[in-house]
Amino acid sequence: MTAAVANGHATPARGSSPGRSLVLRNLRKEYTPGKPVLLDVSVEFAGSGVTAIIGPSGTGKSTLIRCVNRLVEPTGGEILFLDQDLAKLRGRDLRAARRRIGMVFQEYNLVERLTAIENVLCGRLGYVAPWRAWLRKFPAGDIDKAFELLDAVGLADRAGHRADALSGGQRQRIGIARALMQDPDLLLADEPTSSLDPKTSVEIMELITGLAAKRNIPVIVNIHNVELAKRFAQRVVGMTGGAIVFDGPPDQLRDDHLKQIYGGEAWL
Ligand SMILES: Nc1ncnc2c1ncn2[C@@H]1O[C@H](COP(=O)(O)OP(=O)(O)O)[C@@H](O)[C@H]1O
Ligand SMILES: [Mg+2]
Repeated sequence: MTAAVANGHATPARGSSPGRSLVLRNLRKEYTPGKPVLLDVSVEFAGSGVTAIIGPSGTGKSTLIRCVNRLVEPTGGEILFLDQDLAKLRGRDLRAARRRIGMVFQEYNLVERLTAIENVLCGRLGYVAPWRAWLRKFPAGDIDKAFELLDAVGLADRAGHRADALSGGQRQRIGIARALMQDPDLLLADEPTSSLDPKTSVEIMELITGLAAKRNIPVIVNIHNVELAKRFAQRVVGMTGGAIVFDGPPDQLRDDHLKQIYGGEAWL
């Protein structure tokens, strides 16, 4: 294997693909056989813009987006992205496909004892030859890029701070920079603001949606805060009991939809 291949430069050019749309066909997940938590979900996500998935706890939102990057193994169905069925990939092909999908987690998933800049560089690990990752030696271009991304998320002055010395909002900013370090063709975010206060939550959503829009990366974000979903997404998908029960622009989401999605009405 050449260094160029190990560094990922042999992968097809990005941004030039005709579409970054994601199509789920009859996606099914049963953690326990016979007890599906995703009921053959079929939905198409366009190759740009922000889609928010809302719905009560335990309804399958995380399972759905974790099936897309195969952190969860789907039981059935197709996940069509960039001319491949992600559900069928294994080994090297799966690793290559995963590199094209960035993920932002609720609990940040940083390496606590590494610095901010090292955590951002971790987004590049899929591209770097294993011996380089082992030595934590990254090409100069990657290091420049990691600093640019830390600057873009407002943390240029925290590059050398350990992750465990930073606030929740700062940690999530690192999570965003790390995901973008992959040059993803799709950005998934699973409740990225659930552990944050309301003001920081808005700032984090602004960063995710703003930086993705600048790069024309489609975003799918699980978010239980309906107001944030309506504010930042062009499309809202409402799930309940493992199925999609609403799909439309935020201004069409009415109280009767919310009752159907979340049940009851006393909370409205
Ligand atoms: N690893 C797992 N093993 C078994 N059951 C799981 C696992 N992850 C999630 N579940 C179950 O699947 C259902 C959907 O969970 P999840 O996708 O996390 O929902 P949400 O993100 O909407 O809260 C829940 O009933 C949950 O308990
Ligand atoms: Mg969840």
